[in-house]
Amino acid sequence: QEFLSQRGQLAGKRVVVTAGGTREPLDPVRYIGNRSSGKMGIAIARAAAQAGAQVTLITGQVSVSLPQDANIHPVSALTTEEMLAAVQEAFVSADALIMAAAVADYRPVKVAEQKVKKGHDHELRTLELTETVDILRTIASAKRTDQLVVGFAAETEKLLDHAQEKLASKHADMIVANSVAGVTGAFGRDDDQVTILQKGKDPEKWPRLSKTAVAQRLVARLAEQLK
Ligand code: CTP
Ligand code: CA
Repeated sequence: QEFLSQRGQLAGKRVVVTAGGTREPLDPVRYIGNRSSGKMGIAIARAAAQAGAQVTLITGQVSVSLPQDANIHPVSALTTEEMLAAVQEAFVSADALIMAAAVADYRPVKVAEQKVKKGHDHELRTLELTETVDILRTIASAKRTDQLVVGFAAETEKLLDHAQEKLASKHADMIVANSVAGVTGAFGRDDDQVTILQKGKDPEKWPRLSKTAVAQRLVARLAEQLK
């Protein structure tokens, strides 16, 4: 009921949302990935579309099906490089970006063209990795003043300290901090307990809510700040 009044709040706005985990190939059949399900990003895309926005939903690997909605435009971007390119292209004409994706932090230096065989060579016993580009930082540090950028922080310890650090270092307007530790951690679940961080404001701890409800609240907050 509370959110019926949300209809139209983002009318005329363009929102880019990333969801799921990026994955980095080792060879044609193997990759490094993570346990992100995509549920939170997809919930945000749905909530933004319900509020009247045109949504570009950029997905890495997800373990749930994508929404069928005339106002949600899906783009697939499996690697971090692909996701950066897709975000850059969509963000130019967007009002806001929400980086809910769990982006790989490292990728293999070498990607084998053919499947690496066991026994004959030992290429996969030790992996040489290099850092991936930070999409959130890249986009947020170059954004226009009329654009909003929201990041997430996935932590297993010292949640607030680490999330505050990310708010500052990534130039995000908002960080949604959540725990990814243990069985109550956000990965794969249908609910989440988040804390909202914004520059100059006290952290706001939200109760444990369904990801749908978290998404609706986030969208309401976004709409307020885009006014
Ligand atoms: N992120 C990104 N590009 C990356 C890594 C992360 O855009 N290469 C974004 C995520 O989508 C998220 C935010 O940055 O919105 C924070 O991600 P997180 O993994 O919590 O933080 P990192 O900065 O990657 O630091 P660490 O994993 O070491 O905690
Ligand atoms: Ca990370």
